[in-house]
Amino acid sequence: MGSRVVLVTGASAGIGRACAQGLAAEGWTVVGASRRGSSGEGWRGVRIDVDDEQHVTTGVADVVSREGRLDALVAAAGWGLAGAVEDTTTEEARAQFETNFFGVDRAVRAALPHLRQSRGRVVIVSSIGGVIGLPFQAYYSASKFALEGYAEALAGELRPFGVSVTLLEPGNFRTEFTERRREVTPREGDAYRVARSRALETMARDESGGAEPDVLARRVVRLLAQRRPPLRVSVGPMDERVGVLAKRLLPYRVFERASRKSLGL
Ligand SMILES: NC(=O)c1ccc[n+]([C@@H]2O[C@H](COP(=O)([O-])OP(=O)(O)OC[C@H]3O[C@@H](n4cnc5c(N)ncnc54)[C@H](OP(=O)(O)O)[C@@H]3O)[C@@H](O)[C@H]2O)c1
Repeated sequence: MGSRVVLVTGASAGIGRACAQGLAAEGWTVVGASRRGSSGEGWRGVRIDVDDEQHVTTGVADVVSREGRLDALVAAAGWGLAGAVEDTTTEEARAQFETNFFGVDRAVRAALPHLRQSRGRVVIVSSIGGVIGLPFQAYYSASKFALEGYAEALAGELRPFGVSVTLLEPGNFRTEFTERRREVTPREGDAYRVARSRALETMARDESGGAEPDVLARRVVRLLAQRRPPLRVSVGPMDERVGVLAKRLLPYRVFERASRKSLGL
């Protein structure tokens, strides 16, 4: 058998790029997808816009016809929308879901026929914001919460085929995510100005001071080598991972009190 083949979406930057790099270094044949189509050391890039159904279908078919197989999908393409719910338009909210939720779904659906054949692996990059609703990132959080339910259901469908599904829930990582975040335009009067600015500053500061994405890539390399990867993996600084655990274990009121402070509210 030749080397195993993985498609990584969002491979031109940040977490996706680090995963492409890390997997190539471990001997995987890596194809990295993004709109920029950048390549890296030991892996080739292809241009795929995950917002576009046709792009994804043909892109995945091309990968399989060139490499002959597909053993894993790491779906990392995504971006952040910030601002108050009241200030957000339906178009802005839809755009967030188009990439973060439907972009993942498109890649998964195109890859599944091949992954069922190889008894492959699906890794979906969710977020700590897919477990904890982040004020002033409501649509970002909603798109990641949607992925959490989707992946849980998908894992049940794929179990009989030996295909695993893992949700990766990163805390703060230093990537292009912060500078590329889109902010909605506040309405007249800007009722949320003080709280929004404080929350956005905290977010940007925490992300810029976050870990290097290589940490996460190493975890993905290990995950793809595991015989039975877990459904959920949270990666990041200890306090952020404790936050995820606390959300799952504590009564919500107790959790909320503690979390407002850390979110700068
Ligand atoms: N950084 C963090 O602290 C953090 C924390 C939790 C979760 N995450 C998640 O991690 C994932 C990766 O984010 P990152 O931090 O690595 O951000 P990043 O450095 O901005 O990288 C985002 C990647 O997604 C790609 N992308 C965006 N829209 C796309 C589209 N329509 N089609 C194809 N590719 C697209 C970008 O490539 P092109 O622009 O070239 O298309 C880029 O390669 C996201 O899902 C994000 O929600 C990040």
